[in-house]
Amino acid sequence: MNDFICIEFRNDKLVFIDQTKLPLQEEYIETEKVERIAEAIERLEIRGAPAIGVAAAYALALSMKNIFGDIEKTFNDSYLRLAKTRPTAVNLFWALNEMKARFKQCINDSDIFNQLLIKAKEIHQDDIDKCESIGENGSSLLTKGSTILTHCNTGQLATGGNGTAFNIIKKGYEKGLVDFVYADETRPLLQGSRLTAFELSKAGIPFKILSDSSAAFLMTQKKIDAVIVGADRIAENGDTANKIGTYNLAVLCKYHDIPFYIAAPTTTIDLNCKSGNDIKIEMRDKMELIKINDVQITNADYDVYTPAFDVTPSDLITAIVTEEKINKPPYKF
Ligand code: MRU
Repeated sequence: MNDFICIEFRNDKLVFIDQTKLPLQEEYIETEKVERIAEAIERLEIRGAPAIGVAAAYALALSMKNIFGDIEKTFNDSYLRLAKTRPTAVNLFWALNEMKARFKQCINDSDIFNQLLIKAKEIHQDDIDKCESIGENGSSLLTKGSTILTHCNTGQLATGGNGTAFNIIKKGYEKGLVDFVYADETRPLLQGSRLTAFELSKAGIPFKILSDSSAAFLMTQKKIDAVIVGADRIAENGDTANKIGTYNLAVLCKYHDIPFYIAAPTTTIDLNCKSGNDIKIEMRDKMELIKINDVQITNADYDVYTPAFDVTPSDLITAIVTEEKINKPPYKF
């Protein structure tokens, strides 16, 4: 059991670790305010597709705490505020809509806060359960003594539970199937060198961090048995949006004949997107490239290109692991 938490509902407040400070500082934030939770999602204090969904569900429950006046307007305003935090991870919209459906059912209930809190806790528990099944399903793809390369962070910090791609690696390690992990740094916000390294270290899994641009050379030098990553939105045809740099890895895997796996709960599949072309890609603030933490590294006048995610075409994906099964191409969900 790890000694940190990502998100917890405690004493009628949302408690979450500030991921922007990890791994150097482990600081927790407690709030009951929807606006503070929305800001936390925008600033990536809370991040990772499933974790964003869980946090937003708790935020909508909190919007009904000590409520008086026009409850429908308050709920809708909170829904819209949370919906505009980040556009790509579909888990956010899935969770918001689940909460909205429950809100409509209990709009006249005098205890609406607790009714919505029960629903938010169900969403949280559902993600915990899904992470477990993804870990089990995915680890069945691994062979003894594997070396895995991963990108971004998909562990306990990114989900309500023990992670998606990360949980496959963790369960694989516990079963003797994974020996070593390479964690991509994941520029510009360093989810790999800060967060995945933090989680690998806590789990006692041997690893090295590499700069994103080292992956191709690494594949020629060391035997990489599989690349496993998460997803923010999977289209009906299997095209997958994930952290910027994921597509590069998929292309490299094709060239080097390495299996490339996506791991995600079914709540990340969006059947309204027929292909990756329909997925909205978030663009981040230019200062995230101009600075690292608060240190300016280049001229702020320079123009920059700042997509937070890219889309990997489904024909580069060996399999998509969900809590239900291992999906193989041609993808049909
Ligand atoms: O911008 P982030 O850090 O929220 O991006 C996260 C990712 O891209 C993850 O790979 C994805 O959300 C899956 S997390 C289980």
